[in-house]
Amino acid sequence: MKKNKISKNWVNNQRRDIYVRKSKVDGYRARSAYKLIEIDQKFKIFKGGLTIIDIGAAPGSWSQYASRVVKNGKIISIDLKEIESIPNTIQIKGDFTEDNIKQKIKDQLKTNADVVMSDMAVNTTGIKNIDSIQTGELCKESLVFSKEVIKKQGYFISKIFMGSTFNEIVALGKKFFKEVKVFKPKSSRKDSKESFIICKNLR
Ligand SMILES: C[S@@+](CC[C@H](N)C(=O)[O-])C[C@H]1O[C@@H](n2cnc3c(N)ncnc32)[C@H](O)[C@@H]1O
Repeated sequence: MKKNKISKNWVNNQRRDIYVRKSKVDGYRARSAYKLIEIDQKFKIFKGGLTIIDIGAAPGSWSQYASRVVKNGKIISIDLKEIESIPNTIQIKGDFTEDNIKQKIKDQLKTNADVVMSDMAVNTTGIKNIDSIQTGELCKESLVFSKEVIKKQGYFISKIFMGSTFNEIVALGKKFFKEVKVFKPKSSRKDSKESFIICKNLR
C-alpha cells in the first residue's frame, strides 16, 4: 500500500473511532485514556492520596485521568517530549532509561509510589518485531525500576506487546510481584498486538 493511502486510511479510521470522538468530548488529549480507565474499572487501582509515576506520559491522557481521580496525591509524569501542564502533576522531560532521570523521579518521592505505570512506546519502524522488542525492553526497564520505588502493596501497570519478549516480561513480573495479570482493554485496537500487564504486591 502506498504511503499516502496508508495515512488516508489512518485519518478515516481516526474519524470513525468512537474513543477518538469520546476523548474530544471528555477533554482527554489521547484515546489512550480509555485503556487506563478500563484497567482501573477492572482492577480498582486509583483513589485519593496515591503517589503515581507515569512513564511515557505525553501527550498526557493517563496523567489527566490520574489527576482527575486521585485527589491529594502526587503524580509524576515523565516523557522524552514536553507535556502540556496538567493540574497536580510534576513533569520531568527526559529519557527514562538514563540514570539521572531515574534519580530526578526518586528525588520527587517523599514516600514510595503506590502505582508505577508505563505506556512507553518507541517510535515505530513499521517492522512489528523490532517495534515490539524495543518497547518490550522499555517495559522491562520500568518493571525493574518499579521494584526500587514501589510500596509493598503497590501496582505496576505497563503496555506489553504479544511477541518474542512477552513471556520474558511476564516471568520477570512474576519474579517481582505476587499477582500478575494480562488484560486487553476493549479500547485497545483489535489489530494491535498491544496488551497491558498489571502486577500487584511485591514479593
Ligand atoms: C503511546 S505514547 C503515551 C501516551 C500517554 N499514555 C497518554 O495517555 O497520553 C508513548 C510515549 O512514550 C514516550 N517514550 C518512549 N520512549 C521513552 C523514554 N525512553 N523515556 C521517556 N519517554 C519515552 C514517547 O515519547 C511517547 O510520548
